[in-house]
Amino acid sequence: MLFALLLLLTSCSNSKKIYKIGVSQCSAGPWRDKINNEMLAAQHLYDHDVKVSIVCAYDDTKRQIQQIDSMADAGIDLLVVAPNEAEPTGEALARIKARGIPVICFDRTVDENSYTAFIGGSNVEAGRAIGVNVLDVAHGIKDHKPFIMEITALMSSSPAQERHKGFAQAMQGHDEVEYVCREGDWSSDTPYRIALEQIHTGHLPDIVFCHNDGMATGVYRAVAETKTEDRIKIFGIDGMPGEGLEYVQLGHQLASYVYPTGGAEIIKLAINILTGKPYKRQNTLDGILVVKENVWPIATTTKKLLQQNKDLVTRQAGGLFRTLQRAAQDAHRQYHPHRHAHHSHRCPAICLLADPSGHSPTPSPQRGRDTAIHPCGTAPQALAVRDCRAGHAYATLAGRHLR
Ligand code: FRU
Repeated sequence: MLFALLLLLTSCSNSKKIYKIGVSQCSAGPWRDKINNEMLAAQHLYDHDVKVSIVCAYDDTKRQIQQIDSMADAGIDLLVVAPNEAEPTGEALARIKARGIPVICFDRTVDENSYTAFIGGSNVEAGRAIGVNVLDVAHGIKDHKPFIMEITALMSSSPAQERHKGFAQAMQGHDEVEYVCREGDWSSDTPYRIALEQIHTGHLPDIVFCHNDGMATGVYRAVAETKTEDRIKIFGIDGMPGEGLEYVQLGHQLASYVYPTGGAEIIKLAINILTGKPYKRQNTLDGILVVKENVWPIATTTKKLLQQNKDLVTRQAGGLFRTLQRAAQDAHRQYHPHRHAHHSHRCPAICLLADPSGHSPTPSPQRGRDTAIHPCGTAPQALAVRDCRAGHAYATLAGRHLR
């Protein structure tokens, strides 16, 4: 309802074409919140205004495919997507592309014939950089053969396949270490269980590498419970404030890797594609290894950028809020010259806009003439459905439920 309404408002408010960009997120969490805010903050950053609408599939591939199809049916100009799993989502994206809707894959990818362009960090490089750092630490262990355990994320998703590839490449040829790889998923519970089982065998890993910092919290839980903090060193990927960066500062993890979000760059790429400007099909964003020596400046800068984007998005939303309120108050003044006279048979939404405190008396339907043609069921005055829509929109944004 809100998605359709915002599309409606953006399409009829001003003459300059506002491109509608639909974003399909595979999952939720701090890393995705950051990228969402960057994309929303970039809506008015470039020489073309865009309207970004974001949906989340909560790690459910079937749901993601349904969401992608319904966004295409709702008339988006371009799709931005992080495919939960490479295989099944690839077919759906090829269908969208065949409908003439450009497809940008970010963070996670599919078969390259199914998208227009890709943008994101190099997951192979992330896995490799962590691998090299892990070997440095392992080479510091002199009294026994270092035991390194990798716990992968969902291996049907491209970042897990690529992080494993990069890490395994770094381990290759290093017979001086014992290296095992166990399959997990993006949750923290599976790594917790795998680590606890291994610790209880008595053959303690010296180093555990998890495919993201969220998973690494599961290993840290097992290590803390079994009081093996001095023995087991933990590595992760993402490098988010309040998550991986904090764990490195606290010493819960020895390192993380800033996996770039690039929300503004995604919008820039989308605008180039939509406006026929030149663009690259493969766009790799830089990441950086985070260890205790460089974590502080990285954490400070990232926190500041995060807050700036949040403020920008709030200000933009405030702008829309005020636009809706002004529109409805004008309508209200036009049809309601005398403040309280006709409240009983007017649309409650418009009354709410006139008086957001909601003190004005709620209308009594029985005095309405017929509800059939008026969306909110009160008398079908000539005040036009549109104003009532504006009223309902404002009510939705104000979180007020009208009858
Ligand atoms: C968040 C996340 C990140 C990870 C990325 C991989 O949903 O799991 O932790 O880096 O997705 O796609």
